[in-house]
Amino acid sequence: MREIGVRCKPDEVLITTGAQEALDLIAKTFINPGDIILTEGPTYLGALQAFSAYEPDVHPIPFDDKGMRMDLLEEELKRIGKGGAKFLYTIPNFQNPGGVTMVLERRKRLIELSHEYDFMIVEDDPYGRLRYDGGHVIPIKALSDDVLYLGTISKIFAPGLRTGWIAAPKSVLSKINLVKQGTDLCGSSFDQVVVEHYFTDTPWEKTLQTFVKTYHSRRDAMLAALDEFFPKEASWTHPEGGFFVWATLPDYVDTSSMLPVALEAGVTYTPGDGFFPDGVSGKNSMRLAFCYESPEHIREAIRRLALVIEDRLELYRAFLEAGAL
Ligand SMILES: Cc1ncc(COP(=O)(O)O)c(C=O)c1O
Repeated sequence: MREIGVRCKPDEVLITTGAQEALDLIAKTFINPGDIILTEGPTYLGALQAFSAYEPDVHPIPFDDKGMRMDLLEEELKRIGKGGAKFLYTIPNFQNPGGVTMVLERRKRLIELSHEYDFMIVEDDPYGRLRYDGGHVIPIKALSDDVLYLGTISKIFAPGLRTGWIAAPKSVLSKINLVKQGTDLCGSSFDQVVVEHYFTDTPWEKTLQTFVKTYHSRRDAMLAALDEFFPKEASWTHPEGGFFVWATLPDYVDTSSMLPVALEAGVTYTPGDGFFPDGVSGKNSMRLAFCYESPEHIREAIRRLALVIEDRLELYRAFLEAGAL
């Protein structure tokens, strides 16, 4: 935490079974049915799943290439009023699924708005150390002690070791700790011993640099292939880190119904509508992950996907010309 610019004491940190458990514990502790929760729109599917069990009313706020739109957030806050939102959930670095990063001015503005409109901020940061260009932007938690910050070793060591943490004010953590005892008493100490060994006795920062180098070349391969093959009607984000590009197609393309065709061509992606609480918005968008495949496979995948998309666009043009639309 200190390395990324946050000062907190050991009793302001609670170890969790991954950041995913932290999301569930926060939801279980704070959400009453009908409570308003603000998120980026689109946002991490696993967060929506964790929250939805406690029946909140999730309000997504759009982002642009500088992160969540603070003007639209403010409009929404004016509509719902002071004290109307329980918390705001954000993934400020290389957002999942958007790939965008919230710039420093917006992080500061977000804190001002949280004081003005009285809501908590939950900052989820699994990808922060996977940066390929640009400079480190300090965490929102470094700007305000009140923030609930979620960390995890999943993307920098091993997701199977189910180890994450919440850094938050002691008074908040003691409530979450009680809830955690009801969930699993405590996390796996075996996993934690392995994690401790890795981060104290191995050159993990050097290993992390090799991860960063690998993902960097895969990110570059995807952005280059999108430039080369995707139709001009499409747009996409340009992540400075993380795993994901968010691509948006003309609004008549439904990426869910297009998926089986892409699968037949040997390519997969995640349709955009799953990242919105209404399951409808974002249906012309898709999340493209560049973390797993080699640069060569990524280029070929984007080439094939572009052909599938081009087919859809051509069909639409043909219908339009025939006056059938
Ligand atoms: C934004 C976000 N939050 C939380 C998680 C869950 O992380 P963990 O493996 O630590 O539970 C993920 C995993 O993909 C994620 O993308």
